[in-house]
Amino acid sequence: MAILEIYTFPEPILRRKTSAVTVFDQELAVTVESMLQTMYVSIGIGLAAIQTGILKRIVVIDLKSGEEDVSLREPHVFINPKIVEQSGTTVSEEGCLSVIEFRGEIERAEKIIVEYQDVSGKTQEMAAEDMMSICLQHEIDHLNGVLFIDHLPLLKQKMVKKRLTKLAKAEA
Ligand code: CO
Repeated sequence: MAILEIYTFPEPILRRKTSAVTVFDQELAVTVESMLQTMYVSIGIGLAAIQTGILKRIVVIDLKSGEEDVSLREPHVFINPKIVEQSGTTVSEEGCLSVIEFRGEIERAEKIIVEYQDVSGKTQEMAAEDMMSICLQHEIDHLNGVLFIDHLPLLKQKMVKKRLTKLAKAEA
């Protein structure tokens, strides 16, 4: 287990294609555990493997990540997640561990049904709404090389990306 480095915009690795997990072994379990620990130390509620440079379709989510009492944590692991149904629309403010210093209002489906595998490879299904639905859509986007800022209106998107690129250069 290790704390992983999180890549941030405009790092090109965030745009790469990811591949499905086909082997459910100890190595996968260790990767998932490292992702969870990385998410907790970063105080994020979701993390996709690609954000740490691992090009696999793995997502971890814990909406209780910010709880001081660690016994209240609710870690969820989604391997090869796929949205099989969606309905409604909802707008909420999103942020991302890979997009520093910007949060923005994004429109998403309100409710979704996600099919995925657990860490042992067993197929599971979850009906998600509210934060879990939004978070899952955000993380599944990552697996397809998409960032939440890609959903902003075009003009705003250009402005934000320009500013974030400048900021990244200044920090490098
Ligand atoms: Co994100």
